[in-house]
Amino acid sequence: MSSKKNSKIFAANWKLNKTPEEAREFVIGFKNEVFKKSDFFMSKEIIIFPQAFSLEALSSLCAGTAIGYGPQNIYSEKSGAFTGENSAEMAKSLKCKYVLIGHSERREIFKEQDELVNKKLALTQSLDLTPVFCIGETLASREAGQTFKVCISQLENGLKNLDKTKRFIIAYEPVWAIGTGKVATVAQVAEVHSELNKYLTSYGLIDFQLLYGGSVKPENSLELLNTPFVNGFLIGGAALQVESFIKICGSEL
Ligand code: PGA
Repeated sequence: MSSKKNSKIFAANWKLNKTPEEAREFVIGFKNEVFKKSDFFMSKEIIIFPQAFSLEALSSLCAGTAIGYGPQNIYSEKSGAFTGENSAEMAKSLKCKYVLIGHSERREIFKEQDELVNKKLALTQSLDLTPVFCIGETLASREAGQTFKVCISQLENGLKNLDKTKRFIIAYEPVWAIGTGKVATVAQVAEVHSELNKYLTSYGLIDFQLLYGGSVKPENSLELLNTPFVNGFLIGGAALQVESFIKICGSEL
């Protein structure tokens, strides 16, 4: 799937929140609001990453609409003896088009290494799912002046041997800004996004968009969205309520 030119991407990461019933209520409420505006989806790509138990609810409510959805994680194998994991192939059977890969909570809490992230990315490519591939430095790395080194190494290892012609959505999420209310400054985001854009272009990716994530809220979204090379957001806490998610999606250039 290729990207819509000039669209901004608004991806909600619900993490371990919302029952299937609550997920249904959110999507119904969201649809009620946004379908009143006939041009809402013209320049926006909306993606929701619910907890896996709610994917079926999203599948029945979003199939045939412009609202995309997918799991927050998949395993690197399609099926087999891997108790507790999510299958990308099964996500595909629920008409998911996207998968979140390598979120810092997966990396930190579940000890996911770049090598596994790379295998997961390879599987998404083989199934024609679009990955939202997360990278970002910890506070200690930033304070040690290692921000670019960490991000570039996560990219280098994650992208190894992948098909460069396929679409990648890459979310830069400084770990210290996730769920902390500490948003990166526009200057910090601009600096990293410009470096990432340079690196990915010279690496040879053809179709990629860069998201920012980490304490994005209606109060800071407009400014951040105006930052060069920021093609949208990955939003956690502020994407749990229809009203604040819509406000962020409504940030205009
Ligand atoms: P946050 O989460 O918006 O709550 O900081 C972002 C994320 O973890 O993707």
